[in-house]
Amino acid sequence: MKSLKAQVAIIGAGPSGLLLGQLLSRKGISNIILERKTGDYVLGRIRAGILEQGFADLVREAGVAERMDAEGHVHEGVVISDNGKANRIDLKELTGGDVVVCYGQVEITRDLMEARAAAKLETYYEADKVQPHDVKSDAPYVTFEYQGEAYRLDCDFVAGCDGFHGVSRQTIPAEIRTEHERVYPFGWLGMLSDTPPCHEELIYAKSERGFALASQRSATRSRYYLQVPLTDNVEDWSDEAFWDELKKRLPPEHAANLVTGPSLEKSIAPLRSFVCEPMQYGNLFLVGDAAHIVPPTGAKGLNLAASDVATLYKILTRVYETGDRSCISQYSDIALRRVWNGERFSWWMTNMMHDFGDEVANNGLDGQTFNRFMESELNYYLGSENGRKVIAEQYVGLPYEDLKD
Ligand code: APR
Ligand code: PHB
Repeated sequence: MKSLKAQVAIIGAGPSGLLLGQLLSRKGISNIILERKTGDYVLGRIRAGILEQGFADLVREAGVAERMDAEGHVHEGVVISDNGKANRIDLKELTGGDVVVCYGQVEITRDLMEARAAAKLETYYEADKVQPHDVKSDAPYVTFEYQGEAYRLDCDFVAGCDGFHGVSRQTIPAEIRTEHERVYPFGWLGMLSDTPPCHEELIYAKSERGFALASQRSATRSRYYLQVPLTDNVEDWSDEAFWDELKKRLPPEHAANLVTGPSLEKSIAPLRSFVCEPMQYGNLFLVGDAAHIVPPTGAKGLNLAASDVATLYKILTRVYETGDRSCISQYSDIALRRVWNGERFSWWMTNMMHDFGDEVANNGLDGQTFNRFMESELNYYLGSENGRKVIAEQYVGLPYEDLKD
């Protein structure tokens, strides 16, 4: 068995693992990343791209912000439309200056991978059978296979950044874990195309035909989504059918600007809210999708991963700079407070913006009654300045919590 050593073993090279690794390395805290897939596979996954200020600042602190700052677009507002009527939420004005940055998660991941490779930091791609051990002890280790050989990585801490289907969460004994879950009765059909966006800001559109989102990657690349029944297959949707349906759901003045073209990719994703509590077990910490999933309405998935990273980074920095380990136990509570806020916002936006048909699962209400409540809810929030402020404050992201002394 080959033997390795690092202060922190990081499982998973998604944005959580890569960002944590980069931040720790800059503080001189050694880390090794173990990733099940190839780097190209990780970069091939299409993901959202709205970054909160806190995330953007963290990327700057990690020293990998050059391309994000040059190519990312600052969005000072977002459009929420209600049955054809567009309402602009002026994020900057309503929050007293906060904005979001539109820059693809895939690009952030690429920037982090390149920085890691340039700094010659150790990463094992295509690592098989990754398994943490003895995480309750002060000498945890992780075993894995790489190119047919068995490895043992000894470490002080294990960061489980291995996404929803990873091994880390399963390492916490079932009797200690509580998992909260809501699976929604519809999915999102996403389409990527090399066409200019129909509007300079994102449009979240509620309509009688179901929800639609107009998003973007650049001045020449658009990303659009349609709410679809879970029984639909991608093959049921020709490009033409997608564009036709999108036009009907967007406000008419923006639908008129829609530039159509061939799709580069189409896929259907289910919508889920999920939280695992606690987010730590001894010296194992769950970070990002390993601990929580949000529906994409509200763009919080990546941003919640970033606040977990920020909290763990502060804790590990304090541990190695001062030798004081007492702050370790703060991780789960601090991370979960912000996670639940993001979960609640995403759940609320999902409830307000989608058509629930006849589903009977919301506080025992039948779907149509629930839909009426949510129509009224959206109408109230969009029509009141206080309501728009509530949406804006959460869309740009709540502040990160500091460690206690
Ligand atoms: N061993 C090693 N690596 C693993 C294992 C395993 N057993 N299981 C999963 N992984 C890897 C996956 O291949 C993936 O590259 O862990 C990585 C997890 O990455 P993500 O799923 O992207 O999760 P995370 O880094 O927390 O990113 C946060 O924000 O927008 C959201 O859901 C979106 O991925 C996004 C998330
Ligand atoms: C995206 O661009 O893919 C995107 C943007 C905002 C969301 C969800 C997805 O809320």
